[in-house]
Amino acid sequence: MKLGVVIPAAGSGKRFGSTLPKQFQPLNGVPLLVHAIRVFEDSSFNCSVVLAVHPDYKMTVQNMVMRYNLTCVSALVDGGAERSESIDNALCDPSLRSCQLIAVHDAVRPFHTEELLERLVRTAEQFGAAVPCVPLSDTIKVVRNYTVVETVPRTDLRAIQTPQVFNAQLLRSCYESLGELDGSITDDASVLELCGKSVYTVDGLTENIKITTQQDFAFAQFLLHKEDY
Ligand code: CTP
Ligand code: MG
Repeated sequence: MKLGVVIPAAGSGKRFGSTLPKQFQPLNGVPLLVHAIRVFEDSSFNCSVVLAVHPDYKMTVQNMVMRYNLTCVSALVDGGAERSESIDNALCDPSLRSCQLIAVHDAVRPFHTEELLERLVRTAEQFGAAVPCVPLSDTIKVVRNYTVVETVPRTDLRAIQTPQVFNAQLLRSCYESLGELDGSITDDASVLELCGKSVYTVDGLTENIKITTQQDFAFAQFLLHKEDY
C-alpha cells in the first residue's frame, strides 16, 4: 500500500533555543529529522514522504536525504509561518496525489514505531482519521492571573501525539474549507474537529515524546541509552 507522509520540519524552535533548529540536532549522531523519516523508510508501507522545510535549510535537508539514503523522500516544499501552513503546502505536492491515506508526523518525534503506524493506518482505513493518545498523570487546572480558576477532571483528558493518519481527501477538504490558518492549530486532528469531523484515537507510546525544550532532548538521550543506566 502506498502511504503518503507529510513531515513538517520548517520550525525555528524558539522554545528549544539553539542556533541550529532542533529538527537538525544530532541524537546519537543522527539528526532528529532523519530519525523521524527512518521509521517510514524502513516500514512495510510504500511511503512517499514530503518534507516542509524553511528555504534557508533546503540544501542542508537535500544533503541529509542523500547522505542517509532516504529513498522514500519524494519532495521538499517550502514551510509556512505556522505549522498548519507548512502542512497545507505539503498536501498540495503532486507526489501525494495517488495516496489514499496520509500520515502527518512531527520532525522532532524520533521514537514512533512501525507497530504504532500500522495500528493508526488500520484505524484510519476504517474511520477516516486516527491519532495516538496517552493519559495524563499531572492534575490539570485552569489558571488565570496566577490564580486557579478550576480543576479539570482528568479522566477524559489525553495528550495527543503524531503520527496522525487521515483519509487524504478528508484531510485536504478540511484544510481547504478552513481557509485562514493560524498558530492556534497545533495538530492536524484539530483541523478536522473544526470542520465537525470525527477523529478516532489509538493508544500512543509514552516514549513518543516531542522534543520541545533542551530538557526533552536530554530525556531523549536518556531514552536511547536507558539500558546503560
Ligand atoms: N513546524 C513547521 N513549520 C512551522 C512551525 C513548526 O514545519 N512554521 C514544525 C516543526 O519543525 C516541528 C513541528 O512542526 O517539526 C512541531 O512544531 P514545534 O514543536 O512547535 O516546533 P517549532 O515551531 O520549531 O518550535 P517553537 O514552537 O518552540 O518555536
Ligand atoms: Mg511551534
